[in-house]
Amino acid sequence: MKALQYREIGTAPAVVDVPTPDPGPGEVLLRVTAAGVCHSDSTVMSWSAEELPYELPLTLGHEGAGTVAAVGDGVKDVAIGESFAVYGPQGCGRCIKCAAGEENYCRRAVELGINPPGLGSPGAMAEYMIVPDARHLVPLGNLDPVRNVSLTDAGLTPYHAIKRSLPKLTPGSTAVVIGTGGLGHVAVQLLRALTSARVIALDVNEEKLSLALQVGAHEAIISDEKAAQKVKDMTGGVGAQAVFDCVGAPPTVATAGECAAVDSDVVLVGIGGGTLPVGFGVLPFEVSVRSPYWGSRDELIEVFELARHGSISVQVETYSLDDAPRAYERLHEGRIRGRAVILPNG
Ligand SMILES: NC(=O)c1ccc[n+]([C@@H]2O[C@H](COP(=O)([O-])OP(=O)(O)OC[C@H]3O[C@@H](n4cnc5c(N)ncnc54)[C@H](O)[C@@H]3O)[C@@H](O)[C@H]2O)c1
Ligand SMILES: [Zn+2]
Ligand SMILES: [Zn+2]
Repeated sequence: MKALQYREIGTAPAVVDVPTPDPGPGEVLLRVTAAGVCHSDSTVMSWSAEELPYELPLTLGHEGAGTVAAVGDGVKDVAIGESFAVYGPQGCGRCIKCAAGEENYCRRAVELGINPPGLGSPGAMAEYMIVPDARHLVPLGNLDPVRNVSLTDAGLTPYHAIKRSLPKLTPGSTAVVIGTGGLGHVAVQLLRALTSARVIALDVNEEKLSLALQVGAHEAIISDEKAAQKVKDMTGGVGAQAVFDCVGAPPTVATAGECAAVDSDVVLVGIGGGTLPVGFGVLPFEVSVRSPYWGSRDELIEVFELARHGSISVQVETYSLDDAPRAYERLHEGRIRGRAVILPNG
């Protein structure tokens, strides 16, 4: 089968032929319908040999959806041909976090060497992929896999981030989303669907700002050193009750801290290497700073419910598997509007 692999440090990913895997006991083989392109993949491919925690070659793709092609021994209640999305941040399934559905915070994943597809394990950018356990399959039902595959990360990650800040997003509050790319443009919609907060979007790219407005942001402003003051001015000097930084780079993290109101949440979702000092008098009183990772299984089911009700949708650009390297080039150039989705089986 064909697969898109990151093969050597510092090189672009390439489409190669690899053996089609067979599902072992308890495993499910999916014929991949759609696989999303996340900025985290670009970050992974920018790491040095010392920084990279995964073995190469690595088949990319941690947002995946497909139909069941075959099942291994012992797999029950999964019908051949059924359409599923893959829950990515897989854990051991047994520890207290996994028992609560929070496999993203599994206590034993590192020790057991469990890696998400595309982030250590073979991912979804291939004609077929192995899912190690049927519990990682979330039924798509009537949801179109191509338009919804990215909800497994670009939807789930901001959903998890926003859900924990909902108590602060009361009527009259303001939420700021920094970076309205794949995650950010869904974050804006989630805020509109779940809260009555005023939503202010920040990005460095005018086209991303226009997308933010199109999907429901009340205001969109260029992300620069004056942006935080503008947010302050727009909120009568108060600032935002929650800031979701979907970039996480040093300048955006600084802006996030400067936008924050007293008793607000600053949520660092992006992995751009920025840090925010916390200490008495450094930030406004009682600011909470969080750096969440992905989301839980039950939250993914909730995200799909929101999509089913038409409350959120992902803007997608589609690419064939052969053309997948071009999707990563366009992502690198900041030219993807919403999310790029690869169709490994056409
Ligand atoms: N915490 C997690 O679990 C998790 C999960 C998925 C992705 N991520 C990370 O979230 C971030 C966003 O991922 P994505 O796939 O949405 O990326 P993306 O490339 O689709 O979007 C990033 C957006 O940020 C904008 N941007 C860049 N620099 C900016 C700046 N200085 N100020 C404001 N906007 C700026 C870009 O124009 C773009 O619109 C990445 O760092 C990614 O690795 C984290
Ligand atoms: Zn991702
Ligand atoms: Zn676990």
